[in-house]
Amino acid sequence: MKQTILLCLIIITGGSNFRLPAQNKLTVHADEGKSSISKHIYGHFSEHLGHCIYGGYWVGEDSAIPNTRGIRNDVVKALKDIRIPNLRWPGGCFADEYHWMDGIGARDQRPKMVNTHWGGVTEDNSFGTHEFLDLCEQLECEPYISGNLGSGSAEEMSKWVEYITFDGESPMSNLRKQNGRENPWKVKFWGVGNESWGCGGNMTPDYYSDLYRRYATYCRNYGNNRLYKIACGANESDYNWTETLMKNVGNRMQGLSLHYYTIPSGNWGKKGSATQFDENEYFATIERTLYMEELLTKHSTIMDRYDPQKRIGLITDEWGIWTDVEPNTNSGFLYQQNSLRDAILAGINLNIFNAHCDRVKMANIAQTVNVLQAVILTDKEKMLLTPTYWVYYLYKVHQDATLLPVSFICNKYEWNGKKMDAVSVSASKDAAGKIHITLVNIDPNKVQTIETDLRGATVKKVSGKILTSAKINDCNTFENPNTVSVKEFNDAKLSGGKLNIPLPAKSVVMLEIE
Ligand code: AHR
Repeated sequence: MKQTILLCLIIITGGSNFRLPAQNKLTVHADEGKSSISKHIYGHFSEHLGHCIYGGYWVGEDSAIPNTRGIRNDVVKALKDIRIPNLRWPGGCFADEYHWMDGIGARDQRPKMVNTHWGGVTEDNSFGTHEFLDLCEQLECEPYISGNLGSGSAEEMSKWVEYITFDGESPMSNLRKQNGRENPWKVKFWGVGNESWGCGGNMTPDYYSDLYRRYATYCRNYGNNRLYKIACGANESDYNWTETLMKNVGNRMQGLSLHYYTIPSGNWGKKGSATQFDENEYFATIERTLYMEELLTKHSTIMDRYDPQKRIGLITDEWGIWTDVEPNTNSGFLYQQNSLRDAILAGINLNIFNAHCDRVKMANIAQTVNVLQAVILTDKEKMLLTPTYWVYYLYKVHQDATLLPVSFICNKYEWNGKKMDAVSVSASKDAAGKIHITLVNIDPNKVQTIETDLRGATVKKVSGKILTSAKINDCNTFENPNTVSVKEFNDAKLSGGKLNIPLPAKSVVMLEIE
């Protein structure tokens, strides 16, 4: 009798290990969307650091590299192709040592300074306010300026706002006109200090709160320009910082930031290589990436207590993988390669931000070109698009779309006795009614097939795109720039009213459903 039962089980399961085949079951509630995914979740961050600004964007008007008023055309085009919604500048740590008046007027007369944070190099200030705002105009994106609260005065910050946005007769607007810009610019996003708990002044949250209140008072709304003021928020899990800011500052800010970087080894002293890692380190890196979910949940819970109507945005304005620098490069320049692992990590993070879009109103990956988890690398006249770039390319469909709730029963990716969900998912509906699902198969070894129920939608057509490669540490180089790039994905099939999606191992997939 016992033997008969055993035989039946083998026949039913089609295998010899007595386990029912695992099933991923996804339900997309296509008619239940409520919150909008702000396009600003797909924002970027660029600092005066290494070759991000200089060489990355700015080559100067006399350069042989094709440029418009000194700004590289290839980089501008690539970023427009992913619909970059905003760009944060000039730092980072650099912002709290930056004196904006050194970066205006005739370039050859601008004072120089030492970039003490990043390699101790001389900064000649040739890229300043006018150049940055010209860059944003070329990119057709919104500027996000980080003001200097750490070493600058309230007067200096106040005058910067006046210089940029005042549309009347005033000392600062006259100076702007003398420098060649008649009309004011529009600037919405304004940071009042960066990492004030660290490189921005090593302050306590109470002391910073008071300073924020003082500095923000003098950041005026001129004409119809309305500032969206962003206070310096917590470092990772410093929940006390969030609590204090919400209590002391409250509605005087429109946004509160959060910084969290994924360090593969978890050790800032020896972070791990961008390209040489084993599955152990891969698993640990993804575990650390998933920690973003906990951080957003816990910071949001605190914010909810003070701001149940969610008026204040949680602004994750620095995130991404931070590895050791590439061998033989300046350790202060934070230049790192970018592999398929980083694309997986970006896909997971963006899915998490989407899921929290009722509170997370902006996120900025660090840093756009040549620094940390860059989407673009340049080498003089050459430019390449990293695997992370292609995730932004796939995910741009979510910008300003309505988040669709999902229910997901998911297989596990197991490694060394530990496990995590094998797939990360996000779904949205755009203004034209198209549904987009982004899926990340985190498992580097196994296909994950997902049975998908699109509840409340009639499916006529499905198309897709995929990002994957042979090895998890594959990357694009100047010699082989297309190793990891996007291809068509036509394997999602409708059957019995359900969509069957066989997700290849270590892949990021975007499906469009009409
Ligand atoms: O992105 C690099 C640095 O990381 C930024 O300058 C700083 O804000 C953070 O510590």
